[in-house]
Amino acid sequence: MAETSVDNSIILDIKHVSKSFRSKSKTVQAIEDVDFKVGRGEFISVIGPSGCGKTTLLRLIAGLEVDYEGDILLNNKRVEGPGLDRGVIFQDHRLLPWLTIEENLALGLTEDKTQIKALVKQYLKKVDLEGFENAYPRQLSGGMSQRASIARALIRQPEILLLDEPLGALDALTRYNMQEELEKIWMDNKTTMIMITHDIEEAVYLSDRIVVLDARPCKVKEIFTIPLEHPRDRSSIKFEEYRASVVSSFRSAVSNYSI
Ligand SMILES: Nc1ncnc2c1ncn2[C@@H]1O[C@H](COP(=O)(O)OP(=O)(O)OP(=O)(O)O)[C@@H](O)[C@H]1O
Ligand SMILES: [Mg+2]
Repeated sequence: MAETSVDNSIILDIKHVSKSFRSKSKTVQAIEDVDFKVGRGEFISVIGPSGCGKTTLLRLIAGLEVDYEGDILLNNKRVEGPGLDRGVIFQDHRLLPWLTIEENLALGLTEDKTQIKALVKQYLKKVDLEGFENAYPRQLSGGMSQRASIARALIRQPEILLLDEPLGALDALTRYNMQEELEKIWMDNKTTMIMITHDIEEAVYLSDRIVVLDARPCKVKEIFTIPLEHPRDRSSIKFEEYRASVVSSFRSAVSNYSI
């Protein structure tokens, strides 16, 4: 009886979340009453003006900030701290420079040595880095390092991958390629992804839904659904129509913005 209200298709429920930072001289209201749900396996992008609170929102979901109002429910349990069910990828790859790629990926895994070796091989293959087990991060390009950091997050098989401008530091061509890699990884693994980006075309290329945040304090301005099939064709008329609608929403969010 009873528990019929639990909806398993929803992995993350962000319920009326607000967060402010207080210092002696002032209080910054970073997020105000942000409210949306994320379906299991969905790819969500979050865009909004610089400084509006996107990273703060991601850190709250990751459990790296725990002092907030409202509720963030992951599988119906309130987020109270970090956990292996969430992987986080930042703009810089954050690989440890003194460890090889294999050692970086293996860090913290508890399987036996042979299993870890096999797992590392399997996940490096997913990101097209076969054969780079023994390389050090300094021997990889920016795009390769970012792929290694995606493999490092995926190997832990998180339920949700949280990505904070993961491709922001890459040149345009590498970025295009990485968007396609990310699309492939998402289609193969069915991991729920929440990605912050400043690149609207990237958001339209990858996402099931795009959450546009308004200027500080950050509120949800609009949520777009992009029902296009994957892999997506950037040159299609439909793609351009969605891109134009998101650009116009983002523009009006930026015009409300004052430092
Ligand atoms: N630890 C902190 N202490 C005090 N204020 C903070 C802290 N972290 C963030 N803020 C403030 O909260 C607001 C939102 O910051 P946040 O980093 O979330 O923005 P953002 O949307 O990710 O910006 P960007 O697009 O530039 O990365 C900013 O005004 C910032 O100064
Ligand atoms: Mg940020």
